[in-house]
Amino acid sequence: PFEWYAEMREKTPVCFDDQRETWDVFRFEDVNRVLRDHDAFTANRAFKDDTSSNDEDTGSILQTMITTDPPEHTRLRGFVDERFQPGTIREYQPRVENVTKRLLDDLEGNEAFDFVDEFAIPLPVIVIAELLGIPAERRDQFKAWSDALVARPEETTQAELQRIQQERQRAQQEMGRYFATLLAERQGSDGDDLITLIANAEDLSRGEKVGFCILLLLAGNITTTNLLTNAIWTLEEQEMTNAVRTGDVDREQTVEEVLRYRSPIQSLKRIAIKDVELNGRSIQTGDVVTLWLGAANRDPAIFDSPETFRSERKPNRHIAFGTGVHFCLGAHLARMEADVALKQLLARFDRLDADLSDLEPLNSLYGLESLPCEVHRNT
Ligand code: HEM
Repeated sequence: PFEWYAEMREKTPVCFDDQRETWDVFRFEDVNRVLRDHDAFTANRAFKDDTSSNDEDTGSILQTMITTDPPEHTRLRGFVDERFQPGTIREYQPRVENVTKRLLDDLEGNEAFDFVDEFAIPLPVIVIAELLGIPAERRDQFKAWSDALVARPEETTQAELQRIQQERQRAQQEMGRYFATLLAERQGSDGDDLITLIANAEDLSRGEKVGFCILLLLAGNITTTNLLTNAIWTLEEQEMTNAVRTGDVDREQTVEEVLRYRSPIQSLKRIAIKDVELNGRSIQTGDVVTLWLGAANRDPAIFDSPETFRSERKPNRHIAFGTGVHFCLGAHLARMEADVALKQLLARFDRLDADLSDLEPLNSLYGLESLPCEVHRNT
């Protein structure tokens, strides 16, 4: 998509697409402004990606913090905000290190594996399941539900779409019931898991509590999978894997640059709730606005040589985690997972030899379907 972004950013930075019935916004400054202006743009419907922009029923899947505006948003986010602050996230780090180590142990003996299936998908699912406090024996079921909930075919027949929607509904109901049971069981108990925290929250309705659990599960999975995959993809492509291993290139800064260069979420949506001007164009109340984070993150007005991957870029003001009140709740967690994952992977294998010959980037949530690796171990 990056060539398209460059052209649009230059020529028609805010323009209306008749077919998709949405405004498209490409420049950093404009994207940033819309995300911060919640008086003029509502997030109510934001949890929709590009491929679902025309089907009405998925928008209401979650009435949670991600689709509410202040002051309601502030109330909802307040229940969990503290658990995602850097200090608390640091306390989780040893648990993430254990999960990562176990996953890598499971790969012991495999010379070749698919990085996406064997590592980048399971890591975030297991981590969030642990934080929520899902019993280990239910994790496979849990993963099947979350897969069904986020399944979004790129192109497909009507019948297939219907089938996927039915499965999504069923998974949502089953998972909702499962969370409702766990929430009820844990009400009044004093565990340190997120389900107990949410169960004991006063002033949250039953539906809001279930929505909370489902949101925490869904918001962080594919996104973090794609961050991990995009990191390995980019390091191998840029022939920088070894420099990160030896410490010649800073790991944390590399992760930031991967977030900018290959942002896991390429676009967000908002709806105008007032008539407003944006970069000289008149947006009317009710209009849908698509904000291209991936284009903003390569805007030459903000980033020098934006089309070049530069791990030493500093400051790196990317908005891959959004900005404003909805700034990603899980940003510190995702960064920590990526840091731990890279550190352990590179310590364990002295070569990854990712096969970049036949990659198929996914569009709506930007990542790869698979990334075959042939590893060589450190002895
Ligand atoms: C919000 C990206 C990982 C939970 C967001 C938003 C973005 C984003 C762009 C803003 C949405 C909007 O403004 O409409 C990412 C990326 C991730 C990631 C790129 C990984 C690399 C996670 C993780 C969690 C999480 C691990 C775990 C719990 C959330 C939640 C929100 C959110 C709850 C809604 C916050 C709010 O509405 O106040 N994320 N995310 N995310 N993210 Fe993440």
